[in-house]
Amino acid sequence: MVREKWSSQIGFLLAGIGSAVGLGNIWRFPYIVGQNGGGAFLIPFLISVFLFGIPLMLLEFSTGRQFRGSVVSSLKKIRRGLAWTGFAVVFVSIAVLSYYLVITGWTLVFFIFALLGKGLSFETFTQTYYSPVFFVIVTLVTSLVVMKGIRKGIEKTSRLMVPILGFILLLMVIYALTLPNAMEGVAFYLTPDFSKLTDSSVWAAAFGQAFFSLSVGLGILLTYGSYLEEKTNLVGSSATIAVFDLLISFMSGLVVFSIVFSFGFEVAAGPKLAFSTLPKIFEEIPYGYLVSTAFFLLLFSAALTSAISMLEVGVAALVDEMNISRLKATSLISGIILALGFPAAFSYSKANLQLLSRPVLDLMDETFGSMGIPLMALLLSISITWCLDNDILIEQINRHARWKIGKIVVLLTKYFIPIVLSYVLITEILQHFFMPYV
Ligand code: PHE
Repeated sequence: MVREKWSSQIGFLLAGIGSAVGLGNIWRFPYIVGQNGGGAFLIPFLISVFLFGIPLMLLEFSTGRQFRGSVVSSLKKIRRGLAWTGFAVVFVSIAVLSYYLVITGWTLVFFIFALLGKGLSFETFTQTYYSPVFFVIVTLVTSLVVMKGIRKGIEKTSRLMVPILGFILLLMVIYALTLPNAMEGVAFYLTPDFSKLTDSSVWAAAFGQAFFSLSVGLGILLTYGSYLEEKTNLVGSSATIAVFDLLISFMSGLVVFSIVFSFGFEVAAGPKLAFSTLPKIFEEIPYGYLVSTAFFLLLFSAALTSAISMLEVGVAALVDEMNISRLKATSLISGIILALGFPAAFSYSKANLQLLSRPVLDLMDETFGSMGIPLMALLLSISITWCLDNDILIEQINRHARWKIGKIVVLLTKYFIPIVLSYVLITEILQHFFMPYV
């Protein structure tokens, strides 16, 4: 079977931006900034994006284009024994997706309530079964898109959703910045506190956020790279995707902090910031229902294009490895996702499902999101750079690129990133082990 390709450079870029821009930018980024001291966080975050994120993006794109296969088949072509790394990456991508889709379902519930002009508080929401019901609905929607393939499914959806998302966000920035006291929020957000730079947990949060936000480590970009034209400039494309991703995170921060400060709410509210604090504010403000409809539509469109990209990792692996149709592969993986995600979905429902006295979803995010993704990024970078002839990577990265940074990327992904990542992961695991839940 001939491997499908992106229909154009812009289609590929929009799919890449669609994958990168997600809940990570609009829901996660503002609360992580809030918890890590505001403006100070932006410096380690920018450093992480340029020193870790972009090199890992390039490593994934170049490997995918070189071997034209899913994460499993590409790694197998490098060395047979690496297949297990591929399977581990596929497993983690499915696990992350299964709770990511639960939250995507929430964004749809809140969007529908806002559209109908009804308020919905997070407390009321968790007293219903909307969470599992909408988890099933968005899982079906995501599968339908992926079943249709690269051009007609993923690319078409991204072409539609990404511009809508940018437009809504732009309007929201203008609205939020003109609120009374908005500037206090902006000041909190942009005033750096350099003393925070010596706090290692701030750095760990910055790495984690950079990986999560740029979608690296889960084989997504490797898979997307396998559908690329030979002539695509990988360095330029990665830089474009990263810049858009940063811009959207930055704008979401402006919106959230202006609104939260303007109405005197708590900035360090954590994950509840978007689903609990903001809806309370929306209820009080003039035209609040319009603002909240726009905000949740924004969250939903961002989440959907990211979920699609995560699903493609497993689907491509099954299609390549088992030679089955996309339809069968997507159905199979979606079934696994439903099974894995149900406990997380029920943990924020009337059933209040808990494990170790915490909501299952939170545990999954900590295990797979915060630790699993950096761990997979570590495995991928070691497996590729240490087993494959580095000249192949350098040639792939430098081809048609204006900035020929192939050698630097190889040095970073071969030595620097594995060392720093191992250090961060070991400290995090020790911390969880000795001081769980602090
Ligand atoms: N990057 C997307 C986001 O910021 C989602 C994602 C997370 C994709 C992790 C892959 C891996 O929400």
